[in-house]
Amino acid sequence: MSKVILKNIKKAYDNNKVVINNVNLEIKDKEFIVLVGASGCGKSTLLRMIAGLEDITSGEIYIGDKKVNNIPPKDRDIAFVFQSYALYPHMTVRENIAFGLKMRKVSKAEIERKVKEASEILNLTEYLDRKPKQLSGGQRQRVALGRAIVRNPKVFLMDEPLSNLDAKLRVQMRSEIKKLHEKLQTTFIYVTHDQTEALTMGDRIVVLNNGDIQQVDSPDEIYNNPKNTFVAGFIGSPQMNFIQGSDLGLDENILYGIRPEKMIKSDGDIKLTVNVDISEMLGSEKIAYFNIGDRRCSAVLSSEFNIGKTLDLSIKKSDLYEFDKNGIRI
Ligand SMILES: Nc1ncnc2c1ncn2[C@@H]1O[C@H](COP(=O)(O)OP(=O)(O)OP(=O)(O)O)[C@@H](O)[C@H]1O
Ligand SMILES: [Mg+2]
Repeated sequence: MSKVILKNIKKAYDNNKVVINNVNLEIKDKEFIVLVGASGCGKSTLLRMIAGLEDITSGEIYIGDKKVNNIPPKDRDIAFVFQSYALYPHMTVRENIAFGLKMRKVSKAEIERKVKEASEILNLTEYLDRKPKQLSGGQRQRVALGRAIVRNPKVFLMDEPLSNLDAKLRVQMRSEIKKLHEKLQTTFIYVTHDQTEALTMGDRIVVLNNGDIQQVDSPDEIYNNPKNTFVAGFIGSPQMNFIQGSDLGLDENILYGIRPEKMIKSDGDIKLTVNVDISEMLGSEKIAYFNIGDRRCSAVLSSEFNIGKTLDLSIKKSDLYEFDKNGIRI
């Protein structure tokens, strides 16, 4: 069993600023969970506390059925993959992958078997005798994954492992990491600030803001049923439009949210003409930008759509999300 339980976890660094504020989370065995949030919200701090690389100010962490608060990182049965691959430059790929096992005095034959197995899974067999500087970014990150795999950890912890890669490679590595998860059948805890990575990779997503969990749900639920304006605005690109009720001829005390792709419906209940000030052609679609009241809004349109100076919106009431004055979904 490799579930991970966080109970009332708090963290304040030496300067006493609270960066993780009473986090409670139960990560299931074999789950791929993604922690997502803006820069500085506490994602790495949380992950490093699970790894034992950072002290917990208060609370309890369990890996499997074992409380690990006082267990050093090397005995927690975890493997950590960093954004900077942290490979040893003077060692070959083979030596890099084998390093941790060698330190643990694993037998030579066993090391050889494990390196072979990991390099086959990661398509690294032909690079085993190269040094890191002779590899591409994606290949280096695969070596870092290989080093984690050979340890047979109960839990994989990954902190923005793809953010040093170019856009195309990132998309490719995303599915490789998903495949790896399926093959290894272990618990993955994956940190990113990229909402697309979160939506495409996570079995469940944990949205963090300022050290607080905002919502924990499947990607579908997070996107279609955000619990508050933070989650609604953070997940989805372009971001959800927020419009004052009075600007739509609706309840004044309610803030309405609507996805940019839902702004023009042939059978909309609310008609509104707006002045477009910027438009962008993205290939498969176009985006028009405008104000509604004092709120900045956008509409996603098909690429054939001819965007003029004005745009006739047609909004279906059933596409609207309603939020109270505290930003909580009604
Ligand atoms: N060693 C430290 N001492 C003091 N404050 C720290 C320390 N490490 C991080 N912090 C602060 O804690 C907060 C959370 O940092 P953390 O690195 O966990 O954020 P993050 O969500 O991983 O951000 P990013 O997406 O930029 O990596 C930040 O305000 C940061 O300045
Ligand atoms: Mg971080």
